[in-house]
Amino acid sequence: MPTTTTTWNRHHVLSLADFTATEYDTVLQTAASFREVLSRRTKKVPTLQGQVVANLFFESSTRTRSSFELAAKRLSADTLNFTSSTSSITKGETILDTAKTYLAMGTDIMVIRHKEAGVPNAIAQEMDRLGVRVSVLNAGDGQHEHPSQGLLDLFTICTLIDPENPRLELLKDKKIAIVGDILHSRVARSNIWSLTASGASVHLAAPPTLLPKLFAEYISENEESLFPPSPSSSTPTSPLPTPHSPLPTPIKRNLFIHWELEPALRDADFVMTLRLQKERMTAHLLPSLREYHQMFGITRERLEVCKPDVKVLHPGPVNRGVEISSDLMDDLELSLIQTQVTSGVAVRMALLYLIGSGKAS
Ligand code: NCD
Repeated sequence: MPTTTTTWNRHHVLSLADFTATEYDTVLQTAASFREVLSRRTKKVPTLQGQVVANLFFESSTRTRSSFELAAKRLSADTLNFTSSTSSITKGETILDTAKTYLAMGTDIMVIRHKEAGVPNAIAQEMDRLGVRVSVLNAGDGQHEHPSQGLLDLFTICTLIDPENPRLELLKDKKIAIVGDILHSRVARSNIWSLTASGASVHLAAPPTLLPKLFAEYISENEESLFPPSPSSSTPTSPLPTPHSPLPTPIKRNLFIHWELEPALRDADFVMTLRLQKERMTAHLLPSLREYHQMFGITRERLEVCKPDVKVLHPGPVNRGVEISSDLMDDLELSLIQTQVTSGVAVRMALLYLIGSGKAS
């Protein structure tokens, strides 16, 4: 059980765009407490006893769904699992009606994944309009965001640096490369918010078709920040354009775009690879998977320009031999992929706890 006294006012977790440094640290510290719980012989706490957590997954998932389910069970909540292909959605029921059905059964927290961006927000708005105390956790919506993945990646990196006291400031001055299909990746969008909030410099690398300049405008939409030139990178590098309107808590975000791999990897402390999201590609954006691997695939050889103790992350599922070489994926020294999965349970317990513990009263 978390020992820290936490102040947490967030009712829904839909995006990391407006997360504050205090909220990141609260999630990290709470997840660290739950990681300790998960190392005990009895891995269960009674915190959410009597509460109902419904996993409403309208899109395929292995890790996220199982991880949320296990997290809820470890907190002693009752869990309901919904898969759209075997549900009344196939008979024409709308998503909002499905959500209201789960509401009528006494659901307290809805964990929602959908292939369209904005669905979790729409359900959260409907719950608020109805005046019910149901919280919504976004488990991935289209190409928009995947907050719990961003948080578990943050936790994985911070606990590697300081296992006892993971906190945002540990990443200050670190260089993190995010490589691959950034255009289609909700994971990249959530990670950009959390990692840049820490003060790390984040270097995105992808072919121009998977990382258009427009992407920079999306990210900078609500920014008040400084974009210094990247000291270690060569052209083409595009520091983001000047912001339009400030966030409530201005944060300096160091975000850089590269259309070549090497400048992003040079001196990097962490390299995040992303799956080529073939199911989201509506046009021919790549010549071939083999060519993509040659240009942007992460291999041991490619990592030689990084810091000597570099680590590699991937949210999964992985296209082996495409975005990352098979041997690197299985290398327990270099790859944090399995640690990410393990971290996911503790981080999702933290989110469910922080959101759910206020509901019992
Ligand atoms: C990601 C997702 O679904 O957005 N995976 C995950 O949740 N672990 C990334 C992906 O599908 O490539």
